Amino acid sequence: MPTKILIRGGQPLHGEITVSGMKNAALPILFATVLVKGTCVLENIPDVSDIAISLQILEAMGADISKRSDGAIRIDTKNLCQGSSPLELVKRLRGSTYLLGAELGRFHKATVGWPGGCDFGSRPIDQHIKGFEALGAVIKQDNGYICLQAENGLAGNSVYFDVASVGATVNVILAATLATGTTVIDNAAREPHIVDLANFLNSCGANITGAGTSVIKIRGVEALHGCVYTIIPDMIEAGTFMVAAAATGGWVQIRSVIPKHVESVTAKLTEMGVQVEESDDSILVRSTGELRSVNIKTLPYPGFPTDMHPQFAPLLCMANNISCIQESIWENRFRYVEELRKMGAIIMVDSRSATFSGGNRLTGAPVDAMDLRAGAALIIAGLAAEGRTEIGGVQYIKRGYVDIVHKFRMLGADIEEIECP
Ligand code: EPU
Repeated sequence: MPTKILIRGGQPLHGEITVSGMKNAALPILFATVLVKGTCVLENIPDVSDIAISLQILEAMGADISKRSDGAIRIDTKNLCQGSSPLELVKRLRGSTYLLGAELGRFHKATVGWPGGCDFGSRPIDQHIKGFEALGAVIKQDNGYICLQAENGLAGNSVYFDVASVGATVNVILAATLATGTTVIDNAAREPHIVDLANFLNSCGANITGAGTSVIKIRGVEALHGCVYTIIPDMIEAGTFMVAAAATGGWVQIRSVIPKHVESVTAKLTEMGVQVEESDDSILVRSTGELRSVNIKTLPYPGFPTDMHPQFAPLLCMANNISCIQESIWENRFRYVEELRKMGAIIMVDSRSATFSGGNRLTGAPVDAMDLRAGAALIIAGLAAEGRTEIGGVQYIKRGYVDIVHKFRMLGADIEEIECP
């Protein structure tokens, strides 16, 4: 039954929440288990729909998967069958592109349907393909599938990316881990989830250095063994709660977070006049009642993350003056704008930037989430707005946030998920 999120806004949030494991780290690590002909135990895997679909894909390919009582996933990929990922599942998420690198690495052959994922305009994979070709693979497209083959195996090489792509960096790491010789990726993505993937693979016996910098070196090894590994906390979930605390004029203690990963979010909130106190693995965000206007430009890590752009939009609507967001990663990340306008926001969009007039009082309205982070933005807007907000498109929000309604209720929000026949 489809559901909606119903919010009666205007209550300042107060209390503590614990951040879940990071979806965008868990996805590449789950698909990386394809390279391990053995058993891995993955802890802190977030219970979100993108992960559930990924597990279904691996299970359909022959992986033996079970869930421990503490939520950890045990996954044995000894008996995988190459090229058997179901198209209808693959096309439901972006992370399924990682099967290309993983299958190619293990079988020297990959057959995977075109991936799906949130729609922000075109999402090319030319850099992934360039990397695979540099390692010796040949590509062909066949009836909705991407087919790769490396008849003579994969050999390490230099790969230079034109853009620091997260997906392409993951895929080349996956393909190169079991290749002969050394692969050097230049202009690699530096996101914390790339470091997490490298740490996981190294725990399985891989030899990867430089993750977290723009030059990553992968010295091929003959085989990987299983391991027990804990996924890092989700910096975007942490950032979402940080902004929600500020937008509602409340305070939230966010636990199980790596403060360094959210530095760009902390910096922007501080610039706006919000109080942010960091300790080892927690962050306290407290509103001072002041919201100064700021300008934001999204950039690859350690710059301001595109995945935090929509969540800042309601905050900028309420700031004391004009603010601007320049989106430099995705062509169209402004699909929340029309919805926020229904709530009283005054926002002008020109190509890849949006200008927020500031000084808007948001009021509740029926709105629809068009993608995952737009959905998070609408929840924040609904919590800050006066009156009743009803959010459709809940399935997008469930792709990436664990128990978001419950977590906000724990912070005192008047929020519930209702069935809508
Ligand atoms: N790009 C190319 N060619 C390529 C690959 C990417 O031109 O071959 C461009 C893209 O068009 C984009 C930029 O490079 O302009 C960055 O794309 P990237 O490959 O880094 O993105 P992605 O791997 O498809 C991941 C996250 C996204 C997040 C982006 C950017 C996952 C599963 N997805 O996507 O997360 O927005 O990195 O940080 O990790 C989300 O979680 O809400 C989400 C959309």
